Amino acid sequence: MTGPVSDIHSLPPDEFLEEVHSFEFWFHAVEGYLSETRYGRRPGTPDASLTEPERDRLVTVLCNYCLGETAALEASSGLIAIAPNRLTKVFLSTQVVDEGRHLEVLLHRLKELGVGDPEQEIERRASRSLVTFKRRLLELVAGKDWEAAIFAQNVILEALEFTVFQAHAETADPVTRDLLQGIVKDERRHIGFGENELGRRLKTNPTTRTRLAVVQHELDPLVLASCDEALGQIGTAPWERPEIGRSYLAAVRRLGF
Ligand SMILES: [Fe+2]
Ligand SMILES: [Fe+2]
Repeated sequence: MTGPVSDIHSLPPDEFLEEVHSFEFWFHAVEGYLSETRYGRRPGTPDASLTEPERDRLVTVLCNYCLGETAALEASSGLIAIAPNRLTKVFLSTQVVDEGRHLEVLLHRLKELGVGDPEQEIERRASRSLVTFKRRLLELVAGKDWEAAIFAQNVILEALEFTVFQAHAETADPVTRDLLQGIVKDERRHIGFGENELGRRLKTNPTTRTRLAVVQHELDPLVLASCDEALGQIGTAPWERPEIGRSYLAAVRRLGF
């Protein structure tokens, strides 16, 4: 396909999917919101002064975002080897680049916030439930379980990140907000890929649904606990948290779970 990106909605479904999962499409998409930025920060975005407790909570939450992005980076790169065809390998290679960038901008933000050794700080502040989630995701990839791993990564993890990052962007300091708004745009593409990849299989293969329901049953508590911890650090009021948890579950339910 060589047509302008604005024409993609007039394409037949197969060509549409091929186009939106291509590097060509990726490049035009990210160029639109990254070309002027430096480490995800837009020119002219002011620094806000944070109190020490605010800075400390932000560092904790960014450390956990780094953990989630590392999980996605390691899993999406591992998934290339077991992807069922070349088009899915191409899409995953764009996702690897996105996840590497997300990790880089978050690490850079930690440095700006005065964290001298982000690796050590991530170890120290990591949520146990997110660490367990990462281990299980990488086990699914290592076990070459394409459907379960895509479900865990491109539906469950991405929906969690999308939900939390969007909520955080609403109250974050301006620089962190810039980063999160850029990242959320990529996560939306990753979720779209997961929904497309699994949607067709779920329609035609009843055993896939049963298998993935088991994966969801295992991973949901980990995701909801991580979500709750992150929202607590961000300062989301306890009465608003169930609402945000529901928005995560709604994303998973779009696939019929
Ligand atoms: Fe990401
Ligand atoms: Fe992602």
